[in-house]
Amino acid sequence: MEKLVSNWYNVRPVPEDYIYPPEKRPGNIHVPKGEGIPVIDLTEAEKGDPALVIQKILKAAQEFGFFQVVNHGVSENLMDETLSVVREFFQMPDEAKQHLYTEDFSNKCIYFTSCENYANEKVHMWRDFLQHQCHPLDKWQQFWPVSPARYQEIVGACSVGIKKLASRILGLISEGLGLERGHFENELSGCMVLTALQYPPCPEPSLTLGTCQHDDANLITFLLQDEVSGLQIFKDGQWIGVEPVPHAFVVNVGCLLQVISNDRLKSVKHRVVTNASRFRSSAAFFVTAVEGSVIEPAKGAMDQLHPARYRPFTPKDFYMKFFENDADTEATFNHFRASLTP
Ligand code: OGA
Ligand code: NI
Repeated sequence: MEKLVSNWYNVRPVPEDYIYPPEKRPGNIHVPKGEGIPVIDLTEAEKGDPALVIQKILKAAQEFGFFQVVNHGVSENLMDETLSVVREFFQMPDEAKQHLYTEDFSNKCIYFTSCENYANEKVHMWRDFLQHQCHPLDKWQQFWPVSPARYQEIVGACSVGIKKLASRILGLISEGLGLERGHFENELSGCMVLTALQYPPCPEPSLTLGTCQHDDANLITFLLQDEVSGLQIFKDGQWIGVEPVPHAFVVNVGCLLQVISNDRLKSVKHRVVTNASRFRSSAAFFVTAVEGSVIEPAKGAMDQLHPARYRPFTPKDFYMKFFENDADTEATFNHFRASLTP
C-alpha cells in the first residue's frame, strides 16, 4: 500500500517518477475557465422544447466533446452522499481497505493508484482510485466495499440513476443523429464501470498531473466532481477548465461514440491538474458496450457524402489496440479507419 499517493503525498521534492516531461506537464495550472462548455437543463426536454435540448447536446458534443447537465433526475442529496461515501472510503484507515488493494487487474474490485499501467508507465499520476463494475447491479454489487456501511446502498442507487440518465441522453443523441431512438439501448450501453478517484494535494502542481491527458475509450462518461476544480479539456490548441457546477454531471463523448456517430461527435482530450492545498474527489461512471458487441458507424449517421469512416470492431479489439498504442487515440483510430478510396 506504500505506492498509494494518499500515504505519502506531503513530500518535497516530489518523486522523480511523478514529474512529467516539460511538454506534458501543466506548467501554469491556472487556465481559462471553459465558460463556453454548455450547461444543459434537462427539464427543457420535457417541459420546454425537446428539439432545442437535442440541438444543444449535439452542438456541445461536436464542438467540445463535453457538456454539463443539470435537473437530470438524480437527486442532489444522492449526488452529495455518493461523493461523501467515496471520500469516506479513501479516508478509512488502511486496515479497513487493504483487502481491496491489488495489482491484479482481473479482480472485481480494485483499489490502487495511478492506473492499470503502473508497472510500465514512465510517469505515475497523482491519484488513488477504487474501481468496479456497476451494471447490472445484482451481478456486481456483491463485490463492492462493505465499508463505509452505506457504500453499497448509496453507490447502488446512484448507479441506477446514472444508467437511466445515460439511456435518456443517448436517446436524445440518437434522435439528433437521425438514428432509431433505441440505437444505444442494450448491447452498446450494457456495461458500466465506476472509477472513484481521490487526488491528494501536491506540493508541486506545475510538474505533476492527477490524470494525464487522455481520451475516454468507452461510449460515454458521466462524471460527478466535487467543488475543487482541476479537470481541463484541450480545445483549439489550449487547455480550458471544466469548472464545477453544483449538482451537475459532466458528460463526455467517448471514442466508441465518436465511431458510431461516424465522427460527427468528438472524443476530446482531457486531464486533471493537481493543486497544493486541497484534496479533490470525483466519481467517473464509464458507460460502454458489452463484450462481443459490434462497434461500427450507425447506418443512420452515414449517407452518400459521408460513407463509413471506420471498419467494424469489438470493444475488446479497440481496448487492446488502445493499450498497445499507449493510449494514443489517433493511432488507435487510424488502425480502425476504413480506407475512403475504393
Ligand atoms: C477519467 C477522468 C476526470 C476527473 O478518469 O477518465 O477523466 O475529474 N477523470 O477525475
Ligand atoms: Ni477521462
